[in-house]
Amino acid sequence: MRQYSCLLLAPLLISALAAAQPAPAPATTPSATAKTATVPNTLEQRLAACAICHGKQGEGTLKNEYYPRLAGKPTGYLYNQLIGFRERRRSASPIMTYMVGGLSDNYLHEIAAHYAGLRPPFPAPVTRAPLAKLKLGETIALKGLPARDIPACTACHGGPLSGMLPAIPGLVGLNPEYIAAQLGAWRSGSRNSTAPDCMARIASRMTGDDISAVAAFLAFQVASPDVPPAPAQAAKLPLACGSAP
Ligand code: HEC
Ligand code: HEC
Repeated sequence: MRQYSCLLLAPLLISALAAAQPAPAPATTPSATAKTATVPNTLEQRLAACAICHGKQGEGTLKNEYYPRLAGKPTGYLYNQLIGFRERRRSASPIMTYMVGGLSDNYLHEIAAHYAGLRPPFPAPVTRAPLAKLKLGETIALKGLPARDIPACTACHGGPLSGMLPAIPGLVGLNPEYIAAQLGAWRSGSRNSTAPDCMARIASRMTGDDISAVAAFLAFQVASPDVPPAPAQAAKLPLACGSAP
């Protein structure tokens, strides 16, 4: 039912967004001037359709499902995702493919840069998890499981897990079910990043228990949205990632 109502909503949202794509400057007739004065054509105004799910500041919302945080993730990462939805390399959420279907590369880049610059507060950490699970999650996130060739998440996502420029996202301030679902999507092939797809390789080496533990540990972290992503090439990646060269 939920999916169904989303799909019904989609055409309305898209027409609003497409109609609001940046248009060539209008001729400066008095009536055109009057029109632009009453309807502010700012990017924020045009992204009202996205705010319904992702929040006004891209903070992410937990309604009957989770709509992920976009704020503060690197521009390159967000741009790659928008292209991925448009090209259906990331297909778990048909609504996102609808949302960005008709939008140009330039406009998607502008949208990505907008959300990358926002810093709304993080939600409260999720603390309902058994200690043993959090301990396993901590080991995976900070040290990895070398016996199974699983690198530490911090090796690429940065020591404070705030991501790395230009295209690796932070992993804090997210809902644990979302994190687990993304790792599951890489395992099942419904999320594909540019080859070599390092996240698909890492996720395929993880068990269901590993995934659930690392998601619980990440969601348990108290973090500040003001910690920026690490600079580009701050660390040598333990595996090659096509989306973050
Ligand atoms: C009806 C709800 C809905 C609307 C409206 C919507 N999104 Fe989404 N969006 C989602 C869901 C659900 C996901 C997670 C998809 C998944 O699990 O792969 C998502 C994921 C994303 C992601 C990937 C986030 C990440 O961290 O990887 C980006 C970027 C994004 N949306 C941008 C937008 C933009 C820009 C708009 C407006 C043009 C928009 N969304 C409108 C529901 C929505
Ligand atoms: C070799 C580098 C590397 C390592 C190690 C790594 N990641 Fe990633 N991760 C990436 C890259 C690159 C992306 C962006 C992929 C894309 O563009 O789709 C990413 C994206 C993600 C995302 C998507 C976030 C979102 O907002 O949708 C999750 C979740 C994630 N990684 C979890 C993990 C976890 C958990 C670990 C540790 C077990 C880990 N990663 C280790 C490189 C890495």
